[in-house]
Amino acid sequence: MIQLKNRHEIDKIRESGKVLAECLLTLDEVIRPGITTYDVDRIAHEFITSHGGIPSCLGYCGYPNATCTSVNDVVIHGIPSKHLVLNEGDIISVDICVTLDGFVSDSTRTYEVGKVSPEVHKLNVVTRECLYRGIDAARKRNARISDIASAVFKHAFSENGYGVVRDYTGHGVGFDLHEEPEVPNYVSPLIPNPRLKPGMVLAVEPMINMGTWKIRTMKDGWTVKTADGRPACHWEHTIAITDDGVEVLTEL
Ligand code: MF3
Ligand code: CO
Repeated sequence: MIQLKNRHEIDKIRESGKVLAECLLTLDEVIRPGITTYDVDRIAHEFITSHGGIPSCLGYCGYPNATCTSVNDVVIHGIPSKHLVLNEGDIISVDICVTLDGFVSDSTRTYEVGKVSPEVHKLNVVTRECLYRGIDAARKRNARISDIASAVFKHAFSENGYGVVRDYTGHGVGFDLHEEPEVPNYVSPLIPNPRLKPGMVLAVEPMINMGTWKIRTMKDGWTVKTADGRPACHWEHTIAITDDGVEVLTEL
């Protein structure tokens, strides 16, 4: 069942999203060659708790940290590590969920560490554009979930030849971290395709690979890498469908 949110509830999710947006902005200042993914996680964790929030990934299905830190060919769910030092030319996707006063927001961005190659920079730019194409598709009158999916897919694959991850999707969010509906980044007749309705709150999150869309999960049970070892980017916002259109709740 899709749980619709009223105006007050959307405003509460936005408050949570504001802490999350500020946290991601703070990380932009600290992600530099030489920092470990452990320290990135520690700084985010400290930021969230000092602003009254709870890092909702920590303990979710046994996940061990406040953030997912996914470097280079890691698509999602990279576990922070004291042994993983970021180098010039790396990319790192930091995926964070914040619960504030019981309301959950979810956002991700991919950071470039120092100067990255033009190919990797383009992948990152296009992935961010995919996120905003998806959000814009949701503004259309009578839009459905598949309009978000096809806008992302068109820009990533049809226009740029990138692989679009299929095994993980966006999702409803707000009362819980993962709610209905699924928000895929490709169109499939097998996935429910409801019309977007005022009160829906969705995590839109393109996961885009430079090469193949295929992924594999490492033995730790979490880390998801591209099957071909080429890099991947991930951008995510929590959005609300309202009577007037779409509000992005994880943007300042
Ligand atoms: N933020 C992730 C998402 O978009 C959730 C990560 S769950 C965790 O669905 F357990 F891996 F943290
Ligand atoms: Co999400």
